[in-house]
This record gives sequence, C-alpha cells and structure tokens, in this order.
Amino acid sequence: MKTFYLETFGCQMNAHDSEKVAGTLLARGYSQVETPEEADLILYNTCSIRDKAEQKVFSRLQQFKSGAGKGKVFAVLGCVAQQEGEKIFEKAPHVSLVAGSASYGKLPEMLVQLEAGNRHVTGLSFDADETFETPITRGDKPHRAYITIIEGCDKSCAYCVVPFTRGPERSRTAASVMAEARRLAEFGYTEIQLLGQNVNSYRDPSPEGWDFATLLERVAEIPGLRRTRFTTSHPRDFVKEIVDAIGRNPVLCDHIHLPVQSGSDRVLERMQRLYTRDEYRRRIEWIKNARRPISITTDVIVGFPGETEADFEETLALLDEVEYDSIFSFKYSPRPTTSALGLDGHIPEEEKARRLSILQEKQRAIQMRRNNELAGTTLEVQVEGYNQATGQWIGRTSQNRILNFTHPEGCRASLDGQYLQVLVTRAGPNSLAGESAGENLF
Ligand code: 5AD
Ligand code: SF4
Repeated sequence: MKTFYLETFGCQMNAHDSEKVAGTLLARGYSQVETPEEADLILYNTCSIRDKAEQKVFSRLQQFKSGAGKGKVFAVLGCVAQQEGEKIFEKAPHVSLVAGSASYGKLPEMLVQLEAGNRHVTGLSFDADETFETPITRGDKPHRAYITIIEGCDKSCAYCVVPFTRGPERSRTAASVMAEARRLAEFGYTEIQLLGQNVNSYRDPSPEGWDFATLLERVAEIPGLRRTRFTTSHPRDFVKEIVDAIGRNPVLCDHIHLPVQSGSDRVLERMQRLYTRDEYRRRIEWIKNARRPISITTDVIVGFPGETEADFEETLALLDEVEYDSIFSFKYSPRPTTSALGLDGHIPEEEKARRLSILQEKQRAIQMRRNNELAGTTLEVQVEGYNQATGQWIGRTSQNRILNFTHPEGCRASLDGQYLQVLVTRAGPNSLAGESAGENLF
C-alpha cells in the first residue's frame, strides 16, 4: 500500500490540513497519484458545512462500492468523518479509516494500523489538545503558504456544525507560528495566510500572551514577505487594532472578510451571533475610516428559520449600505446536532431560493459598480497562472480581486509568483481585465 490519492472538499482550513496529511504520508514513503484508479489508499478530506457538501463524499464512495474499489483502502477524514463517526462504516463498508481533524496528530499511528490490515480504524476524540503540526508540509501553491494559528471554535452559532466537527479552540504558541513564518519566508514564499475558524480570538498560550493583532503585525515584519492575509473573522471578536495594523503596514493585505450572516437583529439573535446590526456597522465604519482603502467581503445566509420578508429586506439594505466587494451567500441548510434544528419557522426551499437570487442580483450590481470604479487605475498583482484559452495571465490584487491581464511576453515568460503592475482596462462583476504595465518591481 504505497500510493495515495487525496481529494479535498470545503474550506481553506481543510485544504491546508490536506497539505499536512499529504506531508505525513510522503514522509512515510507513500507517493501521491493524480487519479483514484492508480491509488492503493484513497482519502477524502470532507466538509459538512451544508448538506450538499456532505453528500459529495458519499457519491464518491458509491462509485467504489462494488468491484471498482477492490484491493484499495478508503479513508474518510475531516468534518463528515467527525460528524458521522462509525456510522460511515455502516453506510460504506469498504471504508477502513474514519478520522476528524482533531486526531490528525495520531495519523502516523493510524497509518500503522491500516498497514497492518486493520479495517476499522478511528480517530474521533477531541482529547489531543495539541495542534496538528508536521515538519514537512507540502504546499499546493508555489508562492502562497498557509499557517494554522488557531484550531476549533468556541462559538455556538445556531446553524453551524464547526464547533462539533473541529472541537474547542486551541491556539498555537506565537513562537511556533513565528518560526514557521520565518522558515517559509526563507524558503521563498512571499505570501502567508494565517488560518483559523475564528482568528480574532487567537491568544498566544505562552506567557507573552500575544493577541491576534500583535501576531499579525509581527508576522508582517518578517523580511521577504510581500503579503499577509488572514481568514476568517468573527465580528464579535474583531477589534480596531486589526484595522490600525493594516493601515500602518502595506504588507498586510487591504482586505477583510467579516461574515455578517444577516442584517436583522432578530435573526442575528436567533442565530446566536452575539452582535447586533449596529455593532457590526461600527466595525465596518472602523474599516471604512482606515488610513488606506480596505476591501470588505462577507458571508450571508438567507432563509434561516423564522426569517421574515422584513428581516430579509434588512439584509438587502445592509448590502446597499456597506457595498461589499464580494459576498458568499447561501440558503440555510439544516445540519445535524445544531440548535437551529429545533427552531420554529423553517422556510420552504423555493422561498430560500427566491431570496438567494434577489440577494445575488443586488450584489452583482454593487460589484459591477465598484469594479468599474477601478478601470484606469494601476494595481499590483501576484501572478497565479496562465489561461491558455484566453491568452491571459491570472493575477490577484492585494484586495483579493482576480485581475486577468495580457503581457508583452505572452506565455513565453514564466511569470508565476511574480508581482507586476497591471493597468485595469475593463471590469466585470467578478473580475477585472487589464494589461501589464511592464514594470516588474520585484
Ligand atoms: N447553512 C447555510 N450556510 C451555512 N454556513 C455555515 N453553516 C451553514 C448552514 N447550516 C455558511 C456561513 C459561514 C460560511 C462558511 O458558511 O455563512 O460563514
Ligand atoms: Fe467545511 Fe466547516 Fe469543516 Fe471547513 S470547518 S471543512 S467549512 S464543515
């Protein structure tokens, strides 16, 4: 059993966990393959944030239920594994390992058991208070590296499975975060993203006791780094010091993702979000009054149980007021074990779909307007790739916008990972297009 195939669903935390899982397997002498057919060990790192995400792993496993999976070992990792536990062995008897993210520290031991032929290996407890660190983390992107600073979540939003699937909050020591960031910078990474379900509640467990804003500022001072980002924030723990730090240091990207979920106080309370609309708006004001413009994005859930038309309109009004640069919007999806299941006023699917499309249409117009304002300006991008079909390079601005651009060298030069100045010539609702202004400042 020496080749593995690993497919990842879900958030950035999961993607980064997968890098670490792959690192652990590579260190044990496995090699990674591109298709499940070639692999001896097939791993799915799963997401259960919404029902649709959860169904994906079961449809993957279904494909291998009879003959096709013969001789292969299957592992279900991540949030569905934690949520469903041993029930997965019943639903999909060809699965041999079920492990949630809080148990990945024991992955080497679990692999030993699998290799010994054990067909019911589990890692489902939250007792490991250590975070999952591997010395050989293999990055999927050549120039952007991820660092987990805090795992788990101590909030109890009524709709959310995360506190159940990722367990209680555990912060890494600032010393270990700083050491990893320095090592990555020395290795040539120019962008670092600090990750956590709620980075704002980060607290260094060592006597120094750095809070998140301090850690952010210190990471951004590391020589060699050009960009530092973080995700994700909870408005309740979001402090003005974060905005001030971004205002002071251009290495800290001018983008804040601040999930609001709803613009209605009544719904926010039913969601147990622990802030009011006005408290949220105060945070937006801090951001809008920063020393340099900062892009703001958010997450919205429509059709939460009991959401009235008037509540929904308050969310629409908030979009007009804040003018987000982009949003992720979702229909409420009932999740096992969450407290929202017990609320009254569940809303029919068609009505959720109607609200979602109204919301998305409004946001599309806002983005069109905001992106149009950027035409004629020159922005710095980090190059992420080349699109053969359009003949354009793909770049990302500090504000996290995609800016596709042409370059006099066409695809002859290798621009991946470089920082270039690009003149914006056209704007769409979801991306910008432009021409390389030629000068490479890096
Ligand atoms: N239904 C719909 N959307 C959800 N999210 C989290 N849980 C649910 C759910 N049960 C959304 C929230 C969160 C984002 C990551 O996913 O908007 O911020
Ligand atoms: Fe999905 Fe949430 Fe788990 Fe990330 S933490 S994989 S979004 S359920």
